[in-house]
Amino acid sequence: MTEETNQERPENASDRIRKAFAVELDRFSDSPGSLKEAEKELRELQEVRIKFLGKKSELATQKKMIGSIEPKLRRDFALVFQSLEQDLTRTLNDKEQRLKTFILRAGIERDAIDVTIPGRRPRPGHLHPITLMRQRIEDIFVSLGYTVEDDREIETDFYNFDALNIPEGHPARDPQDTFYTTDGFALRSQTSTVQIHAMQRRGAPVRMIAPGRVFRRDTPDPTHNPMFYQVEGLCVDRGITMAHLKGTLDEFVHRLFGSTTKTRFRPSYFPFTEPSAEVDYSCFKCGGAGCRICKWSGWIELGGSGMVHPNVLRAANVDPEEFTGFAFGLGIDRTGARIYELDDIRLLFENDIRFLEQFK
Ligand code: FA5
Repeated sequence: MTEETNQERPENASDRIRKAFAVELDRFSDSPGSLKEAEKELRELQEVRIKFLGKKSELATQKKMIGSIEPKLRRDFALVFQSLEQDLTRTLNDKEQRLKTFILRAGIERDAIDVTIPGRRPRPGHLHPITLMRQRIEDIFVSLGYTVEDDREIETDFYNFDALNIPEGHPARDPQDTFYTTDGFALRSQTSTVQIHAMQRRGAPVRMIAPGRVFRRDTPDPTHNPMFYQVEGLCVDRGITMAHLKGTLDEFVHRLFGSTTKTRFRPSYFPFTEPSAEVDYSCFKCGGAGCRICKWSGWIELGGSGMVHPNVLRAANVDPEEFTGFAFGLGIDRTGARIYELDDIRLLFENDIRFLEQFK
């Protein structure tokens, strides 16, 4: 009897739990204002479920006590907590179902595409004028049977100078001074470095062009930039002469500027060619009469050229007794600037969209 008086009546315990549950549930809104809010409520509802129906809930504790209840009271005791459990479960399930429906609808609404909104017009890109120029040059030489070589921009002194017959202390290193790294590497100052790589890779005979970026410590001005593009040409075979060089560059300028274009070779000096020549072409605008484009001279400089020096062939393990060859190197930016009638090659590197858009 004493035991019974000390023990809380099951109805009272059930009422107490119901009240606590009602207080908890009161915190939840009738209808959440946003998807985020609904998702938060769903998480919190899960916590309430664990608190009131979980293994450590008071309801679970009460249910465990059933064995210690006097047999005649046991049925009523069980019924009270069974009905409590059913009520709480139903309320929680209802609430959970409503939240889930809300989340589903809000998600669909959020992800919906309004097909009536005007689309964003894509702005198609286009090639850079230097790339356009490079491709025109490549097309011409590929059709003449040349391969296109791509090579490294960071070089050792050997490839940039020594192998090109420019030993340390040679004055020809000065005008081609470049940028050095701390561990003995340099940014290549001319694409002539690829002559050596190509011959080492392919041996002779070889016919290749190598377009690419080069670097020099030149002060920027309308015709100079510290980073610019060259295209190297190399043809090594048995019996190659200066006549082949002249014929090849003649054909090149005919295809690039028109069939009436002439070339002119001026004696020059490059340590890696002997003999060497600067190549000019007659102005494509005035045909040689003199105009603003050719600075009233009738001629425009194309680049350097010459017959490959035997020392260069030797540095690349090609026998100069068996093979001869010619090489040339052209400035892509300067040639492009002339064709596009630009007064300043620096325009090509400024990335000003108003300028670049003109090459669409
Ligand atoms: C050379 O670089 C030689 N390697 C060319 C060569 C190759 C000769 C094979 C013989 C055999 P040069 O320093 O002249 O030569 O440069 C060649 C071209 O690069 C020039 O005609 C010019 O068009 C371009 N050029 C040179 N310096 C600059 C610069 N700072 N900015 C833009 N273009 C330049």
